[in-house]
Amino acid sequence: MCGIVGYIGKRQAAPIILEGLSRLEYRGYDSAGIAVFDGDKINISKAAGRLKILEEMTHNGETLKGFVGIGHTRWATHGVPSTINAHPHYNREETIAVVHNGIIENYIALRKMLKEKGYEMVSDTDTEVVAHLIDYYYKGNPLEAITKVLHRVEGSYALGVIFSEHPDQLFAARKDSPLIVGQNEEGCFIASDVPAILKYTRQVTYVDNQEIVRLRGDHMHFYTVDEEEIKKESVTIEWDSKAAEKGGYEHFMLKEMYEQPKGVADTLLPRIKDGEVVIDELNMTDEELLSVKKIYIVACGSAYHVGVTGKYVLENLARISVEVDLASEFRYRNPVLEEGAMVIVVSQSGETADTLAALRESQKRGFKVLGIVNVVGSSIAREADSVLYTWAGPEIAVATTKAYSTQLIALYLLALKFARIRKTVEDKVFAGLLEDLKKLPDQIELLLSNKNHIQKFANRYIGAKDIFFIGRGIDYAISLEGSLKLKEISYIHSEAYAAGELKHGTISLIEEGTLVAAVATQPELFAKTISNMVEVKARGAFVLAVTNEGNMEIEKAADYVIYIPETNPCFANSLAIIPLQLFGYYVAVGKGCDVDKPRNLAKSVTVE
Ligand code: G6P
Repeated sequence: MCGIVGYIGKRQAAPIILEGLSRLEYRGYDSAGIAVFDGDKINISKAAGRLKILEEMTHNGETLKGFVGIGHTRWATHGVPSTINAHPHYNREETIAVVHNGIIENYIALRKMLKEKGYEMVSDTDTEVVAHLIDYYYKGNPLEAITKVLHRVEGSYALGVIFSEHPDQLFAARKDSPLIVGQNEEGCFIASDVPAILKYTRQVTYVDNQEIVRLRGDHMHFYTVDEEEIKKESVTIEWDSKAAEKGGYEHFMLKEMYEQPKGVADTLLPRIKDGEVVIDELNMTDEELLSVKKIYIVACGSAYHVGVTGKYVLENLARISVEVDLASEFRYRNPVLEEGAMVIVVSQSGETADTLAALRESQKRGFKVLGIVNVVGSSIAREADSVLYTWAGPEIAVATTKAYSTQLIALYLLALKFARIRKTVEDKVFAGLLEDLKKLPDQIELLLSNKNHIQKFANRYIGAKDIFFIGRGIDYAISLEGSLKLKEISYIHSEAYAAGELKHGTISLIEEGTLVAAVATQPELFAKTISNMVEVKARGAFVLAVTNEGNMEIEKAADYVIYIPETNPCFANSLAIIPLQLFGYYVAVGKGCDVDKPRNLAKSVTVE
């Protein structure tokens, strides 16, 4: 979602800010803008559409001279994507400029109050209110004005603010929207995400809720909302900056699909020691784990699909009851959480607003929360009681692939840990399960090598109107993700259905030639799914099946079959999803879609 970058120091600010914004493009945006103080006044350039337009307008920042500035990529919430609504926003004298991520929830009341005081709004955004409100409180002391504003605004924000009367300072503040600051010998930076400034510094400090930062060219001061100065520690970012580049692949999504064997191995192997699953990060003794009576898994998007898979695997292997919830539902449904339960939130970014809110809601009710998170140091990672990191590395494409695959591994490991402690699987079976897990990276590699066949098949469907995915049990969870991958990047309407539910409505949509992808990896459900395949085929569907090697029976009901190598049915998702990811990817490429940055979508959904 929206991205913020700011710089103050010895170098020209605009090129640094534009470069930083380009590193945040993956988060999703629809307009961009930049404000730089030129020694006399603050100049703003903004444009709807891609950052490239802003780069061209400003000759890569060269026409905006100055040593302090702020920039923004906007994902519209209040007001359409347009140049006027793009950030930064000025106060009326154009002496203050503001960029903002998040939502100011009481902006209507504030807008009314400001209008009564004679302020005129030029945009439809909630952000512009902040610029005028700072102006209203500003009596020469920027820090004082900003703290007063923070006491007035409700909602979430990461803010970057510059004042023409204080060109030696850059201000930032945060509540419930990510913000980091960094420093090198030549200046200080603000950003909403690490990749934006990784080229310039690896020393970053995470700004916490309701903290304000005052940056000068050579040092940073942190304050509470009561203007008390506080000390904060910086951390060193270990990521390889190359990991956030395309490295010869046509798209980040393709590169990230190819990184799945490594991500899966990195997440899995260090946690298998001497034939046991060892998850030190849980910070729970075996007795404490044994006392867990129920598990709630809460997440959004693909991470929710991981949760649906996790339910089947945990219940099957560890015989523990699991409920899975969409975080946006969980947080407002006043859930009845059973005593002795454990809450698990799953999130790649660690910043998804609804997932973070679900975590806080659970903690408020006295439950410990385990976060399965990919981004180190993210909000969920910092607020969860314990964190099980997935080691997928930075994921840039909006449509997740490698983070999803590593999240599955994290849940398998938990299921095996619980199974061991609850003694629900025999030693021999347990050893076999570990062996099957260890084979997954190579098996994923093998499936990826089949990409040319899938591309050929996918090319036949670039004109499709609707595509359906069906499956039962874990195969239903796989279908959910296969369908999401396809629709989010190719814009083809797609639905996933529990195969047994088909005849309660969806079957009426099947026409001559409609593609139905049937996932059949669970041997005890083969016969049932085959019946559903026959039903849609009888109504004209073309049936693609994804099934286990050796399941020849399926060829009677399918028109095209993709086989996955042998594994325990509990882990089938890790393999069956690979051809479905490739299918979605190649349909989108065939249609000429912007695969890595699909329209309207954001990588990190920091507003509700
Ligand atoms: C967005 C992304 C999805 C992701 C979901 C949850 O919609 O495009 O790929 O699954 O958010 O994000 P999280 O970072 O919490 O896993």
